[in-house]
Amino acid sequence: MKPDTLTDGIYRVAAKVGNRDLFEGIWPIPHGVMLNAYVVKGSEKNAMIDLVKDWDGAAEIVDSKLNELGLSDGQLDYLILNHMEPDHTGAMALFVEKHPNVEILCSEKAVPLIKHFYSIEKNVRSVKDGETIDLGGKTLQFFMTPNIHWPETMMTYAVEDGILFSCDAFGSFGQYDHCFDDQLTKKELDLLIGETERYYANIVSSFSSFVLRGIAKLEGLTIKQVAPSHGIVWREEPLTIINWYKTLATYMDGPREKEITVVWSSMYGNTAALVPFIVEGAESEGIPVHVLEIPQTHESFVLEKVWRSEGLVIGMPTYEYKMFPPMYHILDILERSHVQKRKTMRFGSFGWSGGAQKQFDVFAEAMKLECAGVVEYQGAASEEDKRRAYEMAKEMAKQIKEA
Ligand code: FEO
Repeated sequence: MKPDTLTDGIYRVAAKVGNRDLFEGIWPIPHGVMLNAYVVKGSEKNAMIDLVKDWDGAAEIVDSKLNELGLSDGQLDYLILNHMEPDHTGAMALFVEKHPNVEILCSEKAVPLIKHFYSIEKNVRSVKDGETIDLGGKTLQFFMTPNIHWPETMMTYAVEDGILFSCDAFGSFGQYDHCFDDQLTKKELDLLIGETERYYANIVSSFSSFVLRGIAKLEGLTIKQVAPSHGIVWREEPLTIINWYKTLATYMDGPREKEITVVWSSMYGNTAALVPFIVEGAESEGIPVHVLEIPQTHESFVLEKVWRSEGLVIGMPTYEYKMFPPMYHILDILERSHVQKRKTMRFGSFGWSGGAQKQFDVFAEAMKLECAGVVEYQGAASEEDKRRAYEMAKEMAKQIKEA
C-alpha cells in the first residue's frame, strides 16, 4: 500500500490492523480498525502527525510508507502527538531511535505521559492553544480539545489547506480499502455507518459533552478535509462526519432516536417468556425495537444500540439475591459510558427470593432513568404478567412516539 495523498505535500500513512483482536483490550473489532498517521512536507521542514502502535506490523508498514515519501531515518523534524493513547504512540521509542533529532510537540498534559509510557524527555516541547509552527509554505496550528479522548488531547490544523487532523474524534472502527469518503464502495459505506456508531458509543460516548465543546471551538475554521486517526478521510463532505458526531454526542442528554432497545437475559426461560410481549407492545406503536440477549451479545453491540435509543428495557432474573451477574456487568458499562435519562422498564423472574430490583434501583438512580414500571414475578410469568408487560411497553413506546 502506498501513502494516500490528501493534497500536495500532505499524506496519510495508514495500516489496517486488529480483526482478530479486542480494541483497548475490551471491544471486539471483527472488521479491524485503521491506524492513520499523517505526514506534512513543507519546503523547509517535515512533520509527522501521530504514530501507530506496533500492531499487526503497523510500525513497519508506516516506516515503509515514510521511505516512499523520501523520509527515511532522521529526515523528520517534528513528531506531533495529538493524543497519547498507545494506539497512536506505541511505536514511539522505535520512531525516536530512527529520527533521533525529531522535536516532539504535544499538549502540556502529554509531557508527563510521554515520560511515564516511554521514558522519553529529550526534545519534548508542549505547545499552547492556537500556537502555530511554519514548515515552509505549510503552517500547522494546534487546538486543545481535552477529553476527546483523554485529557491531554489536542487537534492539529493545516492552515493553508484547511485539513483538520482530529485523532480519535470523527473516527470509526473498520478497515477500508479506500482512503476518502467519495471513493467508498457501497459495502464500505455500509460498514462505515455501523462502525462509526459503535466506535462512538464504545470509545467516545463518555466524553460527549467535550465533543460538543470541541466542535463548537472548531466552528470558525474552514475545514476542507477531516483526517482522523481511525477510519477514513472526509474530503467531499467533511461536515457530514462533524454533524454526525454532533448528533451522536447529543444522544447523551437527548433527544435520541425514537427506538427502544430490549436487553435481556434468562436462566431457564421464565424471564425470556416476556420478551415477545414487550416487543409486540412497543411495535404496536410503530417504534423500532432492538432485541439483544446477554451474555450472548457482547456489551460493545449492546452499548451501540442503547446509546441511540430513547427507550431501554432491561430483563433479568434474580440470581442469589442480586441481579443476574452478566446484566450487572452490562449496566456497569452503560453507566460508565454515560447512558442516562432513558425511558425504562424492567422485567424478570425470581425463584426462592427476589433481590434484583433492589440492585437495579441503584443503577436506575445513578443513571437518572425514568422508570415506567416493573413486571417481576416468582417462577413462571402469568397471563396477567404478560398483559402488563405488553401494556407497559406499549405505553412507553407511545410516550416516545409523541415526545
Ligand atoms: Fe485511538 Fe484514544 O486512542
